[in-house]
Amino acid sequence: PRHFALVPAAGSGSRMGSALPKQYLPLLGRPLLFHTLSVLCQAPDIDKVFVVLSVGDAEWARHDWSELGPKLVPMFCGGPSRADSVLAGLRAIANEAEQSDWVLVHDAARPCLAPWHIDKLIRELAGEEVGGLLAVPVADTLKRADSQRHVAATVPRDSLWQAQTPQMFRYVMLRRALESAREVTDEASALEAAGLHPRLVESDATNLKVTWPLDLHLAEWILQNREE
Ligand code: CTP
Ligand code: MG
Repeated sequence: PRHFALVPAAGSGSRMGSALPKQYLPLLGRPLLFHTLSVLCQAPDIDKVFVVLSVGDAEWARHDWSELGPKLVPMFCGGPSRADSVLAGLRAIANEAEQSDWVLVHDAARPCLAPWHIDKLIRELAGEEVGGLLAVPVADTLKRADSQRHVAATVPRDSLWQAQTPQMFRYVMLRRALESAREVTDEASALEAAGLHPRLVESDATNLKVTWPLDLHLAEWILQNREE
């Protein structure tokens, strides 16, 4: 089977609080999205990289993406939620993807994905039926709050993981799961809702999601210290 990357990049970045959606904010002199797409386009195991942009995206055309080569395919079909954008992307590549091809869904907002993350994910999931996702074991002690913000319980963290992306699933399974469960914040939960059990592949904290302004500084530090 082939491996396709599908990158949802149609969000507005409201928590970042900048006028420009965060995927286009400058990071080491390039749009943040450039770094994300670059590592995927350079991965030898990835055949194509589909990026899902919002229908009215005026920013994409302002930048030069040609350096990323012929694997990159922009699609202007984003929806109101992340899951809508991913599903729209899956529908748009229906002619291209075979049922058992793998799709690696990766947040545009995770520009520090490294080649080893991709290699490990693909290697560890190659023999899996369903697929899985990058994740990190939870480090902090977790508290469940009641409505008054008093601690109701301490949640044992030993078997808890933080989900990251890429999340890698078979085209047909992923599409079916998302068609029937739309209110999800990641792909894995759609498969879980269908009774399936995605596998966790251990990642690290460098594959952070740029959500808040501080994250942009952390991402810059990570990329800079990697490139040296
Ligand atoms: N995304 C998308 N379509 C949407 C919403 C989000 O393609 N309707 C993408 C974002 O562009 C991002 C990824 O999904 O790459 C993860 O979402 P998130 O970090 O929540 O980004 P935003 O929704 O843009 O940010 P916020 O929630 O702060 O508004
Ligand atoms: Mg969001």
